[in-house]
This record gives sequence, structure tokens and C-alpha cells, in this order.
Amino acid sequence: MTEIIGVVGAGYVGATTAAGFAHLGYRVGVVDTDPRKVHGISTGHSGLAEPGLDEMIDAAVRAEMLTASEHYETLAEATIVFVCVPTPMRSDGAADLTFIDAAIGGLRPTLGPGNIVVLKSTVPVGTGDAVDEAVRDLGVHVVNNPEFLREGHTVRDFLNPDRVVVGGEAEPAGRVAALYRDVGAPTSCVDRCSAELAKYACNSFLALKLSFVDELASLAERIGADIDEVTDIMGRDSRIGREFLRPGPGWGGSCFPKDIRALASIAEAVGLPMRTVTAAIDANEAQSERIVDIVVDTVGVDGHVAVWGLTFKAGTADLRESPALKIVGALRKEGMRVSAHDPTVTDRFALSARLPVEFTPESARMPSFDILADPSSIVPGTDAIVVTTEWEVYRSVDWSAVAHRSPRAFVFDTRGVVDARAVRAAGLRFRRIGVAES
Ligand SMILES: NC(=O)c1ccc[n+]([C@@H]2O[C@H](COP(=O)([O-])OP(=O)(O)OC[C@H]3O[C@@H](n4cnc5c(N)ncnc54)[C@H](O)[C@@H]3O)[C@@H](O)[C@H]2O)c1
Repeated sequence: MTEIIGVVGAGYVGATTAAGFAHLGYRVGVVDTDPRKVHGISTGHSGLAEPGLDEMIDAAVRAEMLTASEHYETLAEATIVFVCVPTPMRSDGAADLTFIDAAIGGLRPTLGPGNIVVLKSTVPVGTGDAVDEAVRDLGVHVVNNPEFLREGHTVRDFLNPDRVVVGGEAEPAGRVAALYRDVGAPTSCVDRCSAELAKYACNSFLALKLSFVDELASLAERIGADIDEVTDIMGRDSRIGREFLRPGPGWGGSCFPKDIRALASIAEAVGLPMRTVTAAIDANEAQSERIVDIVVDTVGVDGHVAVWGLTFKAGTADLRESPALKIVGALRKEGMRVSAHDPTVTDRFALSARLPVEFTPESARMPSFDILADPSSIVPGTDAIVVTTEWEVYRSVDWSAVAHRSPRAFVFDTRGVVDARAVRAAGLRFRRIGVAES
């Protein structure tokens, strides 16, 4: 049977899933409630800074393998529909399933016996069962297929995943697994509950690993060790692995913060609080506060700070839950003047428009908050430069130009990307997270 694929939601996961399956030879229809997304996909643009994604969308649209619409009825022929809508965090930390409910409500009239609804959004344990209940009368199957792609690498990760996880009854799960045959990844066919939990477990474990390294970096600084040497030794241990061993300003993004809180909330609800998980959440809050304290202690609250990097990591334009934004907000709250640079942000007003809802935009609109066109064009007399995102551009800064403008600047690298020797050679003070200041 040749499946026809529907995708609901055309964001990072949905646009990549739609283009990816079209690339693998399936006819795909995607529905999004945002007309700009629909227009974008229809004209070959995802609106996302994802390498290779627009090219893949454009090729699929031209080959008439991919269409986009605001209307669910365009998915009437689809045999398997992937739900890729947001599952943001509620104020109590649990996952907000409003978008999932809306998507299922919208899909219902298009679904028929034998169709499969695939939950690709990250959803709490039990969501698959609830959706199953909602569509059982239609003879529709529900399968959980959590997505593990990384922003900045969505196409590569979709086409070369470490594993494919499919949770559900054998026949529908087998049909979903078969869609991925050509990507050649190991496939785990499990029960829905395990698939749902596995996604939260992976993201929470990575966040936990990062928080451990962040705290270890503070300890290394305090006792005179070098975090790079320590993590290099750790990473050579195959049981530990090299990934996610770099300290930083705290973890953020659209997934880790909400997923780890959702896991904490799932465990809390069944009376089994996960202390390691809640400790990582607390440690992460403390990490961005610690960065702010170091800056304030070093240059005083009257200082002018340049924050380099606003996205939660390099290679994405995503500002959601970015630790850099928390740091900007906290420094401004201290009364400090802040300017910022990010390769994906052109000016203050463009930033305001892109700020995530959880960020109070006031500090971005304030007149004393400036966006720098390039990192070395810092405001003369800048007292501190804090590198908060690991963008490549910060590896090759003209430090003599920076020193010329701001000879007293204290450079604080929270990502380990700055050339310390070049900074010191320019006569500037330098501090790297996880290394005692020399
Ligand atoms: N971004 C990631 O790196 C990533 C990785 C793995 C899993 N996930 C999970 O995938 C899900 C989607 O994340 P994302 O980052 O792609 O979100 P996103 O915000 O980039 O995109 C979601 C899209 O869904 C659309 N939408 C919302 N409600 C809709 C509805 N009722 N009908 C149709 N379209 C609707 C929005 O307009 C938006 O275009 C979340 O559960 C997330 O946790 C995300």
C-alpha cells in the first residue's frame, strides 16, 4: 500500500517531516493555521534558518509531491497524518495540550477507518491513549513517533536519525515504521507509553548532563582546575561520551526547559518525584544568575555590557527560553546598559518582534538597549563583553579593534569559543567559564 501523508503544523518538526517524506517519495499535504507558513511552504520557504530545508521544500513543491494549506479537508486522502503542533509549558510546568486537541478536532472530519494519527509532537504519557479514545469511533489508530531532531540540523537529523521510535499496536506501528525504511536507522517498536516517556527521558537526561557540567565548571574555577581538561578526560570514557560536556550560560530552547518540567510534573503526579530532574532545573536557574553575578561583581552596576549571542544555541534563529535573553533581562534589571549582537538579529525592533512570549520585551525596547551590527562595533567604553552563544563569528574577532574602542573591557566567555590568547594580546582581561581567572 502506498501511504499518502498528512502533516499538521509546519514549524521545525512539521516542515522538516513534510519535506523529508516528500523527499523519500511520498505524496504529502501539510496544514498550518498560520497563513504565512502556508504561503511560505507553497513557495519553497520554511521561514526557518535550517540548512537544506528550503531547497528540499522547493524541490518537493515543484515535483508536486508537497502541498500546503490552511484547511484540514485537504488532508482527506491522507492515510497517515503526523501531528507536529506545539506542546508548550503551562504555568504549572505540565504540557499544554490545547494545540493537540485543536489539531485532532480539526482532523476528525477527514479521518476514516484504517487511517493512522501519529503524534510526533512531544506529549506526556497518556496523551496517545486520550487521542485514541477521541478517534476510536472512527476506526482510526493512534501511534506515537517522537521526534529527536536538533534545530540547526533538522534535515540531516530527519534523514539520518540515531533511531526511529514507534509506539503503538503492531500493525499501525509497523506501517509507520515502514515509512522510514529508506533512512536505514535502527527502529524501536514499543508500546505508546514507553515511546512517550523515552522522548522526555532523552531531553531531560541531556539537560541533566549539561547542568552537571555547569556546576562542575564552577567547582573547577573555584579550586583551580580547567574544565576543558576535565571534560576531555570524561569524554574519552565511552560510558560517558563526548557530547553535552561543554559548560555554558545554562540550557534553553523550545524543548529542554518544557520537557524536563513536564517529566518532573508527570513523576510528581504519580507520587514519585524525580529529585535528579528537579535539581537540574534549579541548577539551571542558578547558572544564568551566576553569570549575571560575575558580570556585576566585576564591572559594577553602572557598567555597560555587550552580550554576544541571543539565540539559545548557534545555528538556529530560535530565541525561545534562551539563557542569553534571561541574562540581558537580569542585567537590565540591575540597571546596567546593555547592547547585544547576534548574527540572526538585525536591529532592536526586529528583535522585539521575534521575542518569545515568556520574555518581557521592555528591556529590548528601552532606548539604552542597542543591537550591534557586528561584534567588534561595540559601544566605546563597554565594560564587559559576555559571550553567551557559540556562534563561529566569535572565534575570529578583531580584538585589537575591540580594545581600541573599549580598552578596559572585561571579556567573559561562557561558551569556550573565544581565542583567549588574542584577547589577552590585545590587552583585555579575559575569563573563561570553568577556568580560574589568571
Ligand atoms: N523544535 C525542535 O527542535 C523539536 C525537536 C523535537 C520535538 N519537538 C516537538 O515537536 C512539536 C512541535 O515543535 P516545533 O518546534 O516544530 O514547533 P513550532 O512552533 O516551530 O511549529 C508549530 C507549528 O504548528 C502550527 N500550529 C499550531 N496549532 C495548529 C493547528 N491546530 N493546526 C495546524 N497547525 C497548527 C503553528 O502555526 C506552527 O507553524 C513540539 O511538541 C516540540 O516539543 C520539537
